[in-house]
Amino acid sequence: MSQTPPPHSAPPRARAEIDLGALRANVRALRARAPHSALMAVVKSDAYGHGMVPCARAALDAGAGWLGTATPQEALALRAAGVGGRIMCWLWTPGDPWREGIEAGLDMAVSGMWALREVTAAARAAGRPARIQLKADTGLGRNGCQPADWPALVAAARAAEDEGLADVTGLWSHFACADEPGHPSIVRQLDLFRDMVDHAEKAGVEPEVRHIANSPATLTLPESHFDLVRTGIAMYGVSPAPELGTSAELGLRPVMTLAASVALVKHVPAGHGVSYGHHYVTDAETTLGLVPLGYADGVPRHASGRGPVLVGGVRRRVAGRVAMDQFVVDLGGQTVDEGSEALLFGPGDRGEPTAEDWAQAAGTIAYEIVTRIGSRVPRVHLHEEPHDPARQRPAAVDE
Ligand SMILES: Cc1ncc(COP(=O)(O)O)c(C=O)c1O
Repeated sequence: MSQTPPPHSAPPRARAEIDLGALRANVRALRARAPHSALMAVVKSDAYGHGMVPCARAALDAGAGWLGTATPQEALALRAAGVGGRIMCWLWTPGDPWREGIEAGLDMAVSGMWALREVTAAARAAGRPARIQLKADTGLGRNGCQPADWPALVAAARAAEDEGLADVTGLWSHFACADEPGHPSIVRQLDLFRDMVDHAEKAGVEPEVRHIANSPATLTLPESHFDLVRTGIAMYGVSPAPELGTSAELGLRPVMTLAASVALVKHVPAGHGVSYGHHYVTDAETTLGLVPLGYADGVPRHASGRGPVLVGGVRRRVAGRVAMDQFVVDLGGQTVDEGSEALLFGPGDRGEPTAEDWAQAAGTIAYEIVTRIGSRVPRVHLHEEPHDPARQRPAAVDE
């Protein structure tokens, strides 16, 4: 359940504040970057750790026309929560709930013949056509149909349309290196995508949407916007890659703030080992602060000795190893009250680090930092607004 405590009050142990006002502003900023395209808010993986349903609603309220998830279970959970409108999901495995997807009015990605066989069988059983979006592998080498197999997949999908078992609502693909502007694969993928769309349209497919752009492409590559852009990380106010600039430079505001209550402050002598393995030893008499968050909460162990934290108004670093439930900061003789706030990351307004800083400290990407914040950390959704009920109605069966 979302609560709305006063912002920045002391957290019980720890919490992730989710600023839905910032999310809405980011959606509007991204729509302005792609003014001729609809926007799909990518809310997979619990909205990159931010809480799927409140984020989906906020994104719709700010003008997102579509929602996107990886698994059908995530998409069905949105419907179960009463979220209406267009929802697409793209990571299907054999035996997945195609029929439920059809009945829930989902747009379902099809990357190969096995999926087309399963979805058309489900459509026959449901007695209504499935909304399917054919995915082209234009170079990512992950999901999607290879160019050599595309004509057969398109022909089979057209046949399914003629039988009343499918509507091909979309043609789409995904970039491999959009976060590296100028990478030669980008132009190759775009050219191939145009060719594969052209082939499908000549074969009689009339898609509602053609799409390939993720956040970095939305921000840097207008020619990739087509009918729809699928934005995830940028909507959460996080830069897709340091090379593209910080979130502030991109006009985005981080949505998640990770805060904890300092659990203990104590004086220790010089030469005192700190945390497992004693990889940190105090070089003088000092004070240590205990932060009750660990790798079970998603604080990366790889950031041991490096992760930045704001405590008592001063930026400190994790001293020694991050443990499962806790880590220590050397306060350098400063005393702070137990219960005072330790800020791991946030927008940076109060001098706190950002998720991008943590990514750098852990040698990873900021996507992983926010997405892996564990379920033990309560999400507190701030600035939730009454949503427009017209956007929340369940999709009509025949939509
Ligand atoms: C198919 C697909 N589209 C769009 C996205 C959103 O990507 P980003 O978070 O870079 O915007 C993802 C996320 O990885 C994805 O898997």
